[in-house]
Amino acid sequence: MSRAKPKSSAPHPETIAVGHGYDPSAASGAAKPPAYLSSTFVYPSAADAKRLHEAFFDGAENGATGHIYGRLGHPGLDIVEARLAALDGGEDAACFASGMAAITGILLGFLAPGDVVLHSRPIYGGADALLAGEIARLGIKSTGFMNGLDRAALAADARCAMSEGSVGLIWGETPANPTATIVDIALLASIADDIGSSQGRRPLVAVDNTFLGPFMQNPLALGANLCMTSLTKYAGGHSDLLAGGVSGAKALIGRLKAVRTLFGSTLDAHSAWLLARSFETMHLRIARAAENAAAIASLLRDHPKVGSVTYLGFTPPDSPAGAVFMRQCRGAGSTFSFRLRGDEAAAFRLLDALKVMRLAVSLGGTETLICHPASTTHYAVPRARREEVGIDDATLRISVGIEHVEDLAADLLQALEAV
Ligand SMILES: Cc1ncc(COP(=O)(O)O)c(C=O)c1O
Repeated sequence: MSRAKPKSSAPHPETIAVGHGYDPSAASGAAKPPAYLSSTFVYPSAADAKRLHEAFFDGAENGATGHIYGRLGHPGLDIVEARLAALDGGEDAACFASGMAAITGILLGFLAPGDVVLHSRPIYGGADALLAGEIARLGIKSTGFMNGLDRAALAADARCAMSEGSVGLIWGETPANPTATIVDIALLASIADDIGSSQGRRPLVAVDNTFLGPFMQNPLALGANLCMTSLTKYAGGHSDLLAGGVSGAKALIGRLKAVRTLFGSTLDAHSAWLLARSFETMHLRIARAAENAAAIASLLRDHPKVGSVTYLGFTPPDSPAGAVFMRQCRGAGSTFSFRLRGDEAAAFRLLDALKVMRLAVSLGGTETLICHPASTTHYAVPRARREEVGIDDATLRISVGIEHVEDLAADLLQALEAV
């Protein structure tokens, strides 16, 4: 993950990740942020309480600072939001109780019945089920596009979406879970402009940045209005917390904070504390995991029992996806899928034979996790829709961790014997 040194004196992301957003002098000089586990905060006076509420709910610029109640905000949340916004290059960020809570906040915060979501395919199974189920039930339609690299194809999908209603949101998950399919973020922004000219309302562009995260991809700099990340994954990094974050312009994030307060989906104090700690080592963890992933992906590609591997690092540079990958990403990440030459039974035999890698959903932890998407993460997605985007019964998803690569390779090779 080589990064050019910024021309300005702005700190590098690695520096931001360690200390940004925390002032020890505000916490008795504690070198590390304390965990503020209080659910409510004492007002200095009744008049201060009133001013604080005026500032929080009406945006009154009356100089009031402080916290009211944990669901509205708390000191640990201030730290992780400042850090995430700085890493993503956003004016502000809002953190939620999970990635799904963040996605729900965006959908319900910015859309109304009759609106349409134009989204990439595939997307995370939970997001797919949310759009097709609860969100559709509220009269918000969604329509998917398979080719997020080609302007003419995407323009045709946009016309189709506009025929269904007012397009309020373009949602791009890139790279996609679990196939690592790439969407051109700048193209989404340009299509949003075209839709805006045609229907008189420009849809917001939101990108799910979970697979690469802020060290390898910055959607806001590429024209997205909102960058959503499941912080449960690489940012949390130890499979011991749930969190979601959204970065963007102050006004948009203000709206998300307002809906979050009412939905009750604010990130809790303990998880915020864990997350602030985890941000500090994120760049080290993802660099080692990415190194390991490159080796494991090559091992799989060369194995006779494996039919295909979707590792981003294998994208031919002269292909449309390769061109966007080079322009848009600073690394290939460490989560990808591969397809066995076989069926569900073969996939299950491999999973059950593993000794080091753990059979579990989720990704981005220090440990290597592997799962069978068709029967787990994408269980709720109907078979035909799954198979259309390349998730069949022999597909496995792997999130490579930071263990010694020789142990991972040996484990995988002995499990492949069982297939
Ligand atoms: C790409 C992607 N987006 C969103 C989510 C949802 O995040 P969370 O599990 O934190 O709610 C996931 C979870 O696996 C995911 O993989």
